[in-house]
Amino acid sequence: MARPTSIYVCSACGQESIRWAGRCPGCGEWNTLIEQMQPRGGRGGAAARGSRSESRGGAGAVVPVALSEVAAHQEDRLSTGIGELDSVLGGGLVPGSLVLIGGSPGIGKSTLTTMALAHLAAAGRRTLYVSAEESAAQIRLRAERLHVGDALRVPVIAETSLDTVLATLERERPEVCVIDSVQTLHCAELSSAAGSVAQVREVASEIMRLAKSLRITVLLVGHVTKDGALAGPRVLEHLVDCVLQFEGERERTYRTVRAIKNRFGSTNEAGVFEMRDQGLVEVLDASARFVGEATRAPGSVVLCAMEGSRPLLVEVQALVSSSELVPPRRVVAGLDRNRLALVLAVLGRHAGIGLGTADVFVNVVGGVRVEEPGADLAVALAVASAAKRVAPVGGDGGPLACFGELGLTGELRTVAHAERRLAEAAKFGLAPVVAPGAHATLRSALGDALGDTSAARMEAA
Ligand code: TYD
Ligand code: MG
Repeated sequence: MARPTSIYVCSACGQESIRWAGRCPGCGEWNTLIEQMQPRGGRGGAAARGSRSESRGGAGAVVPVALSEVAAHQEDRLSTGIGELDSVLGGGLVPGSLVLIGGSPGIGKSTLTTMALAHLAAAGRRTLYVSAEESAAQIRLRAERLHVGDALRVPVIAETSLDTVLATLERERPEVCVIDSVQTLHCAELSSAAGSVAQVREVASEIMRLAKSLRITVLLVGHVTKDGALAGPRVLEHLVDCVLQFEGERERTYRTVRAIKNRFGSTNEAGVFEMRDQGLVEVLDASARFVGEATRAPGSVVLCAMEGSRPLLVEVQALVSSSELVPPRRVVAGLDRNRLALVLAVLGRHAGIGLGTADVFVNVVGGVRVEEPGADLAVALAVASAAKRVAPVGGDGGPLACFGELGLTGELRTVAHAERRLAEAAKFGLAPVVAPGAHATLRSALGDALGDTSAARMEAA
């Protein structure tokens, strides 16, 4: 059999070339040539092209069916045995679906997928763990630490060749299989290195083709780059049914899993985990922990955040110190940097707290990421409290709880799910909450939170 060769296709204009070049000879764009498989006879491509003209007469056409006539039975979902993961998936794995789990190295992707397979094996499902990163012995050592389900009964293969993996899947026919990871599997027919866009795309589409035809549920592990984008797998997002993002920092205990795409459920859910000695443990009482650990010192407030449809109380801390640098430092963890810039500008312009010569550090405690406008007020109050070295005043001497978006004119804007946030705060005895309903402007909120009557007075004037 003649080996099919690959070609390079420009992702901007579609120009095909035999060799890679830094610049597309067609449109002149840089770095747009991506290696692709030359269509084989069996894979559609050329064959389909040849028959197109013949099928114009109507032969080969299909009859469209009204949606009401389409047979659609709700299939039972496969529970992974990990409640938080099931809820993020929308109630468990849909049989035959392809789920991409992205996250930075060391975050716990292999641990999570091993645990899921262990539970599924214990429930009597046929499973298979394909590792292209670790040896079978390493996987065994991890599984032994986990003490979950039937971890040691999960069959494993340590293999990097795509063809071998496909052949094994075809023979073993597992119901659920983990591919760890899409970047380390290698398709011999493409000359680019494993992990390149061309390889990742080919690996994923071949696995998807086989998985859909054999109805194998696949958990595809993918690494993300430093800036948080799914490296390579970005091009897979449209291909898979579900994209889960595993977030948090390696050095921190808490990690969250959230869906950024889900064909079978909402993308609002998020699960919180903690990495322990025996693997990932679900954190069901995350709010209680974060509130319990809140320091109540200057620079610390509790934010009533939303993790998907679930309210979560997290501590936001700020530190303000005089700077030696021009421009001064702005360091954030768990928040959007641009959002901090906006909050600092509003603080300076509308609350008289100028920080042009100060370094500002803001941190969401516990490695949680809060990317919602509702975090603005918490950042503003934490920074103001740190700058003035005044501890925020909560009810009954407890930490101060708050939420709300800041407008550019210094007004407080309402955010979604206000009642749920208030209810969560009330559950932990945090009342009153500094929030848009009670205050119209940042100044008034600041006056309340820091007991700073001068700000409130200026407002009244
Ligand atoms: P791993 O699942 O291998 O991460 P990934 O596949 O995303 O690269 O595990 C990540 C880290 O978690 C690893 O550095 C060691 C740690 N870990 C624990 O703390 N406890 C455990 O029980 C396990 C299995 C791992
Ligand atoms: Mg891994």
